[in-house]
Amino acid sequence: MKTVISAIVLLLACTTNISFAEDATKGEAIFTSNCAGCHAGGKNFMSPHKSLSKEDLEKNQVNTTAAIINQITNGKSPMPGFGKLGILSTTDIENVTAYVLQKSTAGW
Ligand code: HEC
Repeated sequence: MKTVISAIVLLLACTTNISFAEDATKGEAIFTSNCAGCHAGGKNFMSPHKSLSKEDLEKNQVNTTAAIINQITNGKSPMPGFGKLGILSTTDIENVTAYVLQKSTAGW
């Protein structure tokens, strides 16, 4: 029984990782061309205390998929609203969000 449960857990972990990695991989290119100007290496050159580190995202309550998607879609001056301005599609925004969450968890 234990083995069966372990196998299921392992399978779930693998499947989750694969889809997550795929999104984040696409997100990396989007990040490089749209975000790195202000956020290279997960930093924030305009507002240093609002970096993309796990700690800052938690402190500023932008540490969930929904909150990050909202920030990228609508922006928060001086950060442009990439969705509102039609620069990025919903899928692009989801992929770059996956990338930001993955990198912040890994410590950039
Ligand atoms: C012109 C510079 C600029 C660009 C380009 C930019 N940002 Fe930002 N970003 C900022 C600034 C400034 C803030 C802080 C806004 C505020 O005052 O809350 C910010 C905040 C954030 C936050 C919240 C960080 C925190 O700790 O509060 C996230 C997440 C984020 N940006 C992601 C992105 C992503 C992803 C992209 C690319 C799609 C991007 N940004 C592009 C300037 C930029």
